[in-house]
Amino acid sequence: MKIAIGNDHSGVELKAEISKLVEEMGHTVINFGADSSESCDYPIYGEKVARAVASKEADCGILICGTGVGISLAANKIKGIRCGVCSDTTTAHLVKEHNNANIIAFGARIVGLETAKDIVRAYLGAEFMGGRHQNRIDMISKLEEE
Ligand code: RB5
Repeated sequence: MKIAIGNDHSGVELKAEISKLVEEMGHTVINFGADSSESCDYPIYGEKVARAVASKEADCGILICGTGVGISLAANKIKGIRCGVCSDTTTAHLVKEHNNANIIAFGARIVGLETAKDIVRAYLGAEFMGGRHQNRIDMISKLEEE
C-alpha cells in the first residue's frame, strides 16, 4: 500500500521511526510531514495527507502531532476522510474494523515509540467489517452533503 505520513514539529522523530516500520512491513511511504523541529502549523500537514488519501494518491494515512487531536481535526474537514485518534491498539483495530478510518492520528506527547508501532501494526492489520458499520459510515457521509 501507499501510505501518506504527515506530522508537525512534535512528530519529526516519531515519524522517522514509524516510516521505517511501515517500509519494513512492505509498504511505500509518502512523506508530507515537517522534517525540522522548528515550530510549524499542524493543519497544513493534516490537510496534505487528507487530500492525498481523498484523491487516492495514497491508500491511507498516518498523522502525528503533539496529541494527535489538532491534526486529526484538520484532516476530518476534507470530504471523504475518516481520521481517528488512537492511543491504544484496541482503538487502532476497531477504527478500521468499525469506522473504516482511512487515516489514523496519534500524539507524540501521548504515546511512546513502542505503543505507536503497535498502533500502526494493529491498524494496518485490520479489515473493515462492513454490514451495519457501512450503514453508519453512509450516515456520516450524508452529513458531509449538508
Ligand atoms: C503544537 O505545539 C501542538 O499544539 C500540536 O502538536 C498538537 O498537539 C495540536 O493538537
